[in-house]
Amino acid sequence: MNKYFLIPSVIVFTFLGCSKNQDKSHFLSNDSHSYANFNDVRISHLNLDLTVDFQQNILDGKVDISIINYTNAKQLILDSKDLTIHKVLLEDSTKTPFTLGDHSETFGQPLVVDIKPTTKMVSVYYTTSPDAEALQWLTPEQTLGKKYPFLFSQSQAILARSWVPCQDGPGVKFTYDATIKTDSNLIALMSAENSTSKSDNGAYTFKMNQPISSYLLALTVGDLEFASTGRNSGVYAEPAMLEKSVWELNTMQSMIDSAEQLYGPYAWDRYDVVILPPSFPFGGMENPRLTFATPTIIAGDRSLVALIAHELAHSWSGNLVTNETWNDFWLNEGFTVYFEQRIMEKIFGKPYEEMLTKLGMGELEATIEKLQNEGNSDDTHLYLDLDGRNPDDGLTDVAYEKGRFFLQKAESVVGRKRFDSFLKNYFTDNKFKPMNTERFIAELNNHLLSPEEEQAINIYAWVYGPGLPDNALVPYSEELDRVEGVIAEYNNNRIKAKDIDITGYTTHHWLYFLRGLKGLDSTKMLELDQNFKFTQTGNSEIACDWFKHCIDNQYETAFPALSDFLTKVGRRKFLTPLYSRLAKTPKNKAWAKEVYQIARKGYHSVSYNTIDEVLK
Ligand code: BES
Ligand code: ZN
Repeated sequence: MNKYFLIPSVIVFTFLGCSKNQDKSHFLSNDSHSYANFNDVRISHLNLDLTVDFQQNILDGKVDISIINYTNAKQLILDSKDLTIHKVLLEDSTKTPFTLGDHSETFGQPLVVDIKPTTKMVSVYYTTSPDAEALQWLTPEQTLGKKYPFLFSQSQAILARSWVPCQDGPGVKFTYDATIKTDSNLIALMSAENSTSKSDNGAYTFKMNQPISSYLLALTVGDLEFASTGRNSGVYAEPAMLEKSVWELNTMQSMIDSAEQLYGPYAWDRYDVVILPPSFPFGGMENPRLTFATPTIIAGDRSLVALIAHELAHSWSGNLVTNETWNDFWLNEGFTVYFEQRIMEKIFGKPYEEMLTKLGMGELEATIEKLQNEGNSDDTHLYLDLDGRNPDDGLTDVAYEKGRFFLQKAESVVGRKRFDSFLKNYFTDNKFKPMNTERFIAELNNHLLSPEEEQAINIYAWVYGPGLPDNALVPYSEELDRVEGVIAEYNNNRIKAKDIDITGYTTHHWLYFLRGLKGLDSTKMLELDQNFKFTQTGNSEIACDWFKHCIDNQYETAFPALSDFLTKVGRRKFLTPLYSRLAKTPKNKAWAKEVYQIARKGYHSVSYNTIDEVLK
């Protein structure tokens, strides 16, 4: 190339480089669940300064939002929901105009802020609504200690916008700092670096130096105490729960160590769990550095700790490598279930893992059947089309279990050694970045699979097709096969409940047993209850599966216990199937509505929004 040619090309190149939209490396896929203009202006850091007001059930204060303006945009568009915006300032403390767009029931409102091309930061002064959907404010009576109020947030999927104006799509990542002021006898904890004891004045500061997505913003405030469970792990719980929680979660440190052996270093420094009041609407939520968990996993026999392995696994799949939009949700959850089982296998052994996997397949088959019967076959695809819908609709066992069985299929085709080394590199190469389905498939094809292997797996059938592909592995569990035999005998009336040999039955045997029972009647219900005391069980998973039969078979002896359960526990996974079954007959529906009238006050919005629909 001669020098005369070089000169103009340098000029052209420089010109292009400066013009709008040339460098697209930051580009994210369109996210139909966010109003934010993140491909023009992107949030890079938040600095929150909020006061927690338990009198009015509001958060009040401001957030400084640092931005990168890729395209010299004149507006920053944020997501918001039910926020009162008092004013917005630029970094020179001058006020800047803003508008709130039309309100959508599901997505809230765009908050459009005028900025200059040179603006590096805006400060939004705001107050949350007492009905902010992410937040649940509990009265002292709703806590274990009955003395102090309690607050927790649940931001996933698109509820962060109800307590922090932000770009509320999972592809956008930012670091954050926070100052939270609350009552001096309470502790505030976030998905960040936390204190282990209460401050004198109720003020707490937080730092999250690794970039996270908005759905991982989290806050809880209450009378919580801390106890260590190992080198970099611990538990926060209300004082009366702390000892039991530490006992139950004694495998936490070894879970972290096992996970690191599998897929590389833990990127978040500490891993703690906070045990929340029973109204927490999920089993667990993987808020970075601080998993939020339901107290229903504290079963007294350590039988439900797979949930911790699950939330911990999200520290890689989800928190490190994040689904770019909610259509890619399986990349978070399918990977996490796969990873969870690997951790469980390492700590509790293969037979234990096999039980979990077989139970998972049962749940998946039931979910696929239900979705197909309802005409929602498209929701049985791994890659979802949730555009215009609440991303909550994608929260089914398909993302979790079909996702896991897909990865397990890939593992079986290439062998565990190659699969693990692929996954380890995948997490390292993509850490702190969003990932979408298409790019993941490209990663598989470019870094792992031969064309023959690709054909053996049939990626397209798994990801873009309905139901369970026929090449899925059939889970095998000697433990559960033993139960299978018993179920067959019992369902065919060849044995009585008292003849069932339950030696060695654990929670998972019981769940399998309960899920396999067919053709029950009142005699059998009574006999089962008398022999196995299901109605009195303290294990929430067993209770839920038992109560399903109680409703289906009108076993009213258990209804007082069912009513207590529905009133005390706010975990949506339990509530939805129980209320749905009750809603099937006018009599039970009327009874359910009575229970719900009282119980609803104790539920988080995630749960009452679902149950309102079920009972309407
Ligand atoms: N991240 C999810 C919870 C979630 C998903 C909340 C989507 C809101 C929207 C969490 O990791 C989870 O999957 N929890 C499960 C437990 C798990 C063991 C399957 C739950 O809460 O039941
Ligand atoms: Zn999960």
